[in-house]
Amino acid sequence: MSQNMASPHSPSTPRLLQFATEWNVLQKKIGSFLLLLLLLSALFLLSILYSSSTLTVTTEEAVSEGPLLAALLAPTALSSPQKPSPESNAATYEAVHQSNSSVAPVTETTSQSPVSDVEDKCEMSRGKWVAEPRGPLYTNVTCPTIPDFKNCMKYGKHPGFLYWRWKPDRYDLPRFEPERFLNIVQGKKLAFIGDSLARNQMESLLCLLSQAETPIDVYKDRTDRFRTWFFPSHNFTLMVMWTEFYVQREPRVVNGSETGSFNIHVDKINTNWTSQLSELNYAVISGGNWFFRINYLYEDDKIVGCVNCWEKNITDFGIPYAVRRVVRKALESISACGNCDGLVTFLRTYTPPHFENGSWFSGGYCNKTKPLDESDLNLNGIEWELRKIQNEEIERVREKSGGKKFGLLDVTKAMMLRADAHPGADYDKRWVRNANDCLHWCLPGPVDMWNEVLLQDIIKNSSVE
Ligand SMILES: *[C@@H]1O[C@H](CO)[C@@H](O)[C@H](O)[C@H]1NC(C)=O
Ligand SMILES: *[C@@H]1O[C@H](CO)[C@@H](O)[C@H](O)[C@H]1NC(C)=O
Ligand SMILES: *[C@@H]1O[C@H](CO)[C@@H](O)[C@H](O)[C@H]1NC(C)=O
Ligand SMILES: *[C@@H]1O[C@H](CO)[C@@H](O)[C@H](O)[C@H]1NC(C)=O
Ligand SMILES: *[C@@H]1O[C@H](CO)[C@@H](O)[C@H](O)[C@H]1NC(C)=O
Ligand SMILES: *[C@@H]1O[C@H](CO)[C@@H](O)[C@H](O)[C@H]1NC(C)=O
Repeated sequence: MSQNMASPHSPSTPRLLQFATEWNVLQKKIGSFLLLLLLLSALFLLSILYSSSTLTVTTEEAVSEGPLLAALLAPTALSSPQKPSPESNAATYEAVHQSNSSVAPVTETTSQSPVSDVEDKCEMSRGKWVAEPRGPLYTNVTCPTIPDFKNCMKYGKHPGFLYWRWKPDRYDLPRFEPERFLNIVQGKKLAFIGDSLARNQMESLLCLLSQAETPIDVYKDRTDRFRTWFFPSHNFTLMVMWTEFYVQREPRVVNGSETGSFNIHVDKINTNWTSQLSELNYAVISGGNWFFRINYLYEDDKIVGCVNCWEKNITDFGIPYAVRRVVRKALESISACGNCDGLVTFLRTYTPPHFENGSWFSGGYCNKTKPLDESDLNLNGIEWELRKIQNEEIERVREKSGGKKFGLLDVTKAMMLRADAHPGADYDKRWVRNANDCLHWCLPGPVDMWNEVLLQDIIKNSSVE
């Protein structure tokens, strides 16, 4: 994996180095405390693997140097070295995501009007996975940057899941063309903004493009949350920027220890990513899974409610409300960006995990060997509702935005069907034993399709046409 390690000092990214410096300061402040916690929790990697819905890292190695761990698990490396007692967050997660506990109280927020007119216009969501004998564009040999956590075949996954292609009902989605993509984005900068699934898409694009040109790893911050690759022949910059909620948040501390929950300031944008918008030509934002935790919502620095908290004196607004608030805030911030001329923004719609018969902490697994059937899907569930909200917010910002372009990478339905394409048990478990990963996507795999859609949408939105 060492070829993935960035040289953190790149003359071309002085701005980004500021983040590295901030991290260093932060590290020093909490370093010893964290180290102790990390050592103590070494035996409980499984239980803190996945605080609610996003995987969590706990070892110092992972924090400081493990691109493979960081890629998958970075989310709470520094922000929540919580004790291995994820029951409350995890139970929430399970209640929302487990089909065999679909009557759990939290799902009351999930059963509202699943269908809107907006959806009918979206061709991407009508289609099916069809057999594709050609298989993927790359392998773990031709793409050396696949992190071990997503290098599923290396860890024994049967490659059958690779021989499928998404066929929208009304058109053909062309196979990805690396040269074409690079030619269109020549001289441009593209960033994936979001959580570990934004990272997953960046890693897929990196593999796809590296079939045409070898990328240079130019920047990585201390915890690998901000990362930059460069394609010199095409002067193309590919970035990933970490943000769980788009807005500001701080880990919620109770009696001196972090809880795995966050205080989310729905009215305050997280400038870690917006401060870099003016450098970008393309932004791809995504998110959602972090809202399945117990989180608290703040406005004007005052608590206004929560998500999943079950506390008598606090209003529980539900996941959909919280997602809508922050998506709107993010899109409005992009729309209001004064020096972001020509910025094209895409929102990649929500994709769910596929744990069966348990969750990450209770033996849940995902060992299906074929895509699901459309008839297996529940379109009254929260996955579809979050997609609808994302859809509506894109429509809303399009109507209000003066000239900026906004698009949707509508992959929810396609990915709801791909219970067969997660790492599951087939990934590097040196640090994380026994837990299955049914949230992220194998590389190569159906996540590559997200970039096929991105290429088509960039072509549509490109000024050259
Ligand atoms: C690539 O995957 C194969 C299985 O298909 C595995 O044997 C091999 O070790 C992997 N190689 C690398 C470099 O990951
Ligand atoms: C912004 O980045 C800094 C440094 O990396 C980090 O400490 C802080 O938590 C981030 N803020 C948010 C809201 O993510
Ligand atoms: C915090 O500490 C107080 C006093 O020790 C205790 O009564 C309370 O239950 C603790 N709260 C939590 C959430 O652990
Ligand atoms: C809710 O009640 C608990 C326990 O009485 C208290 O600690 C907390 O501050 C209250 N929250 C709000 C928003 O009033
Ligand atoms: C596992 O879950 C599936 C639905 O997700 C259900 O049909 C099946 O009966 C469960 N199997 C066991 C052994 O609980
Ligand atoms: C999936 O895993 C479960 C639990 O280990 C097992 O009972 C089942 O037979 C497996 N299914 C397949 C298709 O391998």
